[in-house]
Amino acid sequence: MTTPNPETNGPVVAPEERTWAPPAEQSPVSPVFDELTRQRTKEIVARYPQSRSALLPLLHLVQSVEGHVSQDGIRYCAEALELTTAEVAAVATFYTMYKRTPCGEHLVSVCTNTLCAALGGDDIYARLKAKLGVGHEETAGEPGTPGSITLEHAECLAACDLAPVLQVNYEFFDNQTVRSAEDLVDALQRGEKPHPTRGAPLTDLRTVSLELAGIFPDLERSVEGPSTAVETMRGAALAAERGWTAPGMPDSPPAFPVLEEKR
Ligand code: FES
Repeated sequence: MTTPNPETNGPVVAPEERTWAPPAEQSPVSPVFDELTRQRTKEIVARYPQSRSALLPLLHLVQSVEGHVSQDGIRYCAEALELTTAEVAAVATFYTMYKRTPCGEHLVSVCTNTLCAALGGDDIYARLKAKLGVGHEETAGEPGTPGSITLEHAECLAACDLAPVLQVNYEFFDNQTVRSAEDLVDALQRGEKPHPTRGAPLTDLRTVSLELAGIFPDLERSVEGPSTAVETMRGAALAAERGWTAPGMPDSPPAFPVLEEKR
């Protein structure tokens, strides 16, 4: 029996067997993509039945090498995955985690979405902007050098119960104030790596990009640290204390309502 393909309603076609061949030797691609990167590219591509599925981790890999995703990086991904540069560029410019200009050692993302903004996120962002003398996605200091910082304002970082929050290289610093955010940035500029409120110890944007590509040179360190906060677990703790439980699932799932066809 064939399962219908949800996109076309036609029969599912088995994924094509693909193997990745490194770009030819006289490839115009930048020499920053060295043998190790090519090896890692192979590993990433081999995880997927179709090579194009490897695009997101491959863009993170490129970012870990270059500190951003350059035009060379886009070309490298396109060659490796047999895509057009337009297809790769469309993805790289859609997701905000891929940076198109060189970044600092650290990326500081201040949540300025509604809840954080109302509780001080806007003030934190305004203060850091003035202190660092940069705006959204701009870098204080020479990109890539120690202590350099790229600042950005971010949409909801999914930690509203700990608002206002900011992230450094995607690690959380919860319940911030203007003062604590300034102290944090001072410490980063001095070359220190304050421990995030939750999550793994702080590294730098390139190391985190490599981890986002699914490559963990030091797996133990990259998962060390608590991943939840007391505030987040408060409801569950209260329920456990009072013996509250969620109603069981029905024996058979409720029928989907019939919806009028949209034309
Ligand atoms: S509004 Fe800032 S984490 Fe949700």
